[in-house]
Amino acid sequence: MSDELNNNTVLSISSYLKDKRNFNLKYLCPSLINRRLNRRLLELNIKSSKEYYNYLLDTDDEIDELINSLMINYSTFFRNSLLFEYIANIILPEILTQKDIGKGKSLRIWSVGCSSGEEPYSTAILINEFIQKNDIDFEFNLFATDIDTDSLTKAKKGTYSFEAVESVKYGLLQKYFKKDDGLFYLSDDIKNMVSFSKYDVFDKKGFSPPQSIFGDFDIVICRNLLIYYNQASQEKICDKLSCSISNNGYLILGKVEHLSNNIASYFKMENEYLHLYKKK
Ligand SMILES: C[S@@+](CC[C@H](N)C(=O)[O-])C[C@H]1O[C@@H](n2cnc3c(N)ncnc32)[C@H](O)[C@@H]1O
Repeated sequence: MSDELNNNTVLSISSYLKDKRNFNLKYLCPSLINRRLNRRLLELNIKSSKEYYNYLLDTDDEIDELINSLMINYSTFFRNSLLFEYIANIILPEILTQKDIGKGKSLRIWSVGCSSGEEPYSTAILINEFIQKNDIDFEFNLFATDIDTDSLTKAKKGTYSFEAVESVKYGLLQKYFKKDDGLFYLSDDIKNMVSFSKYDVFDKKGFSPPQSIFGDFDIVICRNLLIYYNQASQEKICDKLSCSISNNGYLILGKVEHLSNNIASYFKMENEYLHLYKKK
């Protein structure tokens, strides 16, 4: 077992990460930092945090290994399937009617902290199904961003294990994936619907990813990202997301996440079980 993490060493690690990668450890939950650092020490069979700090300074790739182990990238297709049913049956028809989509306006969606693409691709499948079922056509922009470049590379590849696709309905799995050698390859049609880019939600330039040019999103999906950050950082993130959403647009958080107090008055709870909020 590693020793108790030494506070001064954690501070040194923190300023090293900030210097080298502009990665701000101070935004993360202290308990998460402790758990993840301890795990890294165990993996490397290093006995003390001081010894680990020296290893970090001396080993080229360790800084990226550490950042990766601080970020948790777990995701699956149609994670919380009820939410996707709700988007397809309630939110999409409402936005399309209210916003005159198709008459010069496009539907704009942002998946924040998209990991390896399971969430934005599920949304793309949902939109494609909606278009086919209703025999309509409209323009849409589906942006997906993450801070982690490895995840984005995986996302663009669109190749998944069975665990990632096990909640996909059989018909959709048959229609949108090709199975080969135990892996599931997503169809190019769906891959082409999503525009991926690297974006840190703490980026101080603007309130939406540069690729989207302007925010004005109808739906922002930010699930299972806030949980890793402390209260002050959650407020900063929520503030940014709030600015990027159009009036009457939706913010969707993860199952255990809540709107921070600083923006609560701009939103009304649309569905408490789905942690779905509508901007007033
Ligand atoms: C647990 S995954 C969630 C994936 C997906 N949203 C879901 O719920 O299935 C959290 C993702 O947030 C990303 N993330 C964490 N901090 C971030 C930041 N500051 N800016 C952008 N992405 C971040 C991580 O890299 C990770 O891919």
